[in-house]
Amino acid sequence: MATKIISLEDVKKSYFIKSEEFSILKGINFDIEKGEFVSLMGPSGSGKSTLLNIIGALDKPTSGKYFIQEKLVSTLVSDQLADIRNRYIGFIFQNFNLIPTLSALDNVALPSFYAGKLVYERAKELLNMVGLSGRFNNRPNELSGGQRQRVAIARALINDPEFILADEPTGNLDSKTGREIIDLISSLKNKHGKTILMVTHDQNLSKITDRVIYLKDGRITNKKSL
Ligand SMILES: Nc1ncnc2c1ncn2[C@@H]1O[C@H](COP(=O)(O)OP(=O)(O)O)[C@@H](O)[C@H]1O
Ligand SMILES: [Mg+2]
Repeated sequence: MATKIISLEDVKKSYFIKSEEFSILKGINFDIEKGEFVSLMGPSGSGKSTLLNIIGALDKPTSGKYFIQEKLVSTLVSDQLADIRNRYIGFIFQNFNLIPTLSALDNVALPSFYAGKLVYERAKELLNMVGLSGRFNNRPNELSGGQRQRVAIARALINDPEFILADEPTGNLDSKTGREIIDLISSLKNKHGKTILMVTHDQNLSKITDRVIYLKDGRITNKKSL
């Protein structure tokens, strides 16, 4: 039987502004199995980033249950969530989220420091793997957008996460560079067996994934009703 990595049961998220409730996620149910590459699509404002932040243990649902490898995550407190993020999850963001004062190598190594075991050799291997062998000492502002995203991908892998979350990873890149980054992300599945959930606006990108989850107005929907 396939192993469930991510499991959501009736996950809801509301924001309260001056005691008025804004319901953003209205009962989300799905599982993602080990080794799947899944894309998450939907109109702007449909709740994709909100959902990704919950799955990334950066935020908590208002109600419902969220499990990582059958471990209930949605009731954990913030220190425990930080531990889950370090141990299980690699993040790739649209705007790269690198630390501007650190070299590429230090950016990649940093999460291993927080995990209690600084691993520079592995950081170097990962930078080599993403095609940045000559760029260990460059800071983010000395790198192109595509190179910055490669650094972020190496960083996402440093603690050997159980799954990778990517929120519009090509959103700030030109189409050719975006394609190269998607090839690299695909190789994480194909060569390294990683489980990946990727938010994208691009139909062409979603086509190369194993499955597409569509979100509309805070609910999972089928493609036709988008
Ligand atoms: N911290 C917040 N406080 C209040 N509303 C928020 C907050 N974060 C997001 N929202 C609202 O939630 C909705 C979904 O946002 P988001 O998840 O970023 O959508 P998407 O990523 O699909 O574009 C939007 O209407 C947004 O304004
Ligand atoms: Mg978003």
